[in-house]
Amino acid sequence: MRTQVGIIGAGPAGLLLSHLLHLRGIDSVVLERRSREHVERRVRAGVLEQGTVETLVAAGVGERLRREGLVHRGIELRYGGAGHRVPFERLVPGRTVTVYGQQEVVKDLVAARLAAGGDVRFEVDDVTVHDADTDRPHLSFGGERLDCDVIAGCDGFHGVSRSSIPEGVLTVHERDYPFAWLGVLARVRPSAEELIYARTERGFALHSMRSPEVSRFYLQVPAGEDIVDWPDERIWAELRTRLETVPGFTLATGEILEKGVTPMRGFVAEPMRHGRLFLAGDAAHIVPPTGAKGLNLAVADVRVLTEALTHWYATGSTGLLDDYSDTCLRRVWRAQHFSWWMTTLLHTFDSDDAYARRLQVSHLDYVTSSEAAATTLAENYVGLPYERDL
Ligand code: FAD
Ligand code: DHB
Repeated sequence: MRTQVGIIGAGPAGLLLSHLLHLRGIDSVVLERRSREHVERRVRAGVLEQGTVETLVAAGVGERLRREGLVHRGIELRYGGAGHRVPFERLVPGRTVTVYGQQEVVKDLVAARLAAGGDVRFEVDDVTVHDADTDRPHLSFGGERLDCDVIAGCDGFHGVSRSSIPEGVLTVHERDYPFAWLGVLARVRPSAEELIYARTERGFALHSMRSPEVSRFYLQVPAGEDIVDWPDERIWAELRTRLETVPGFTLATGEILEKGVTPMRGFVAEPMRHGRLFLAGDAAHIVPPTGAKGLNLAVADVRVLTEALTHWYATGSTGLLDDYSDTCLRRVWRAQHFSWWMTTLLHTFDSDDAYARRLQVSHLDYVTSSEAAATTLAENYVGLPYERDL
């Protein structure tokens, strides 16, 4: 079997890449380890930068997103007994984010690929990368062989593509945090119109949402926490303690639909390429989720790769492919810094002494009182402009 671009992974990165390439007349095959049901049900990110929304709309997969996505023009930072709004409309006029579940993006992309006759294979075992550093790379899986011009490793943090790269090629930069996020999806109306990022002495809490009937919450918990130690009543009690800290705010509670613990880390593997294997999204980098950047970075990588491959097929010039890693990494490192900054601003670190805690509050006071500091938060949160148009 032969295709132009062999794509490993049907997450947002792999599916969007396949779709954007299709719109430019470039063939691909997507190989995904899990079932379609599994990838469409996996509850993860929820905040889409304006550029991500525009990318999906321009690719023809934004119809439901436009209809059901919740457009947000600000967030609240809550600490010290008060809420402080960061108003995007004043700080970054015309820029917004859209709250729309990652699994909805995945559903829309899978439907678009299948409707266009795209080749997306689920439950594919043992995908292996071969000869990535030659001009005849190929993939093998379940006794089959897929020859391709290039391979896109879009298989997330635990995938096979990055680990197929020989030792010594990649430089890895990594930061582990001593805490994790306990994520909760609940059938309950949101208790606020905008997202609330709350810093308390007991740790961070985030109030987000998915729809007028479904809310999403996160709690900072110690690294390695076991979800069985968090029965629903304990989750609600802790969310109340951390969120009901301003006068007049009551948290509505309801049925918990899903819960899980996600470790927090920053990670970058560079370069994002080995020969004809290109890494995109979580396969190459992870950010702590506080800045809501992971999915958005995956989309940004895929835009760059689409442009580079289109240029290569059209002209034979490898210029943009050769720039792929450096171009992506500029945005990746900006997002690493922003995510680290938001994480440090809002979480409790056991190692913090009283001095460090006072510094943190002073930092929050600055961000919520200085137009310049708030603008820094806002312009990174809604997403910095892309370097190139698609
Ligand atoms: P993935 O979504 O991980 O997709 C990779 C795919 O490859 C998967 O389907 C996997 O099954 C498949 N795969 C893996 N190994 C193999 C293999 N060997 N063979 C074949 N297929 C394989 N980001 C944001 O932008 N905003 C947010 O608000 C946000 N919040 C988050 C909250 C949480 C709790 C978590 C966990 C993440 C959050 N993120 C957020 C990050 C975001 O979810 C990821 O960055 C995003 O999923 C990356 O997409 P991807 O396509 O690169 O990787
Ligand atoms: C959500 C996730 C995030 O990481 C974040 O910063 C904001 C919202 C969410 O899943 O809704």
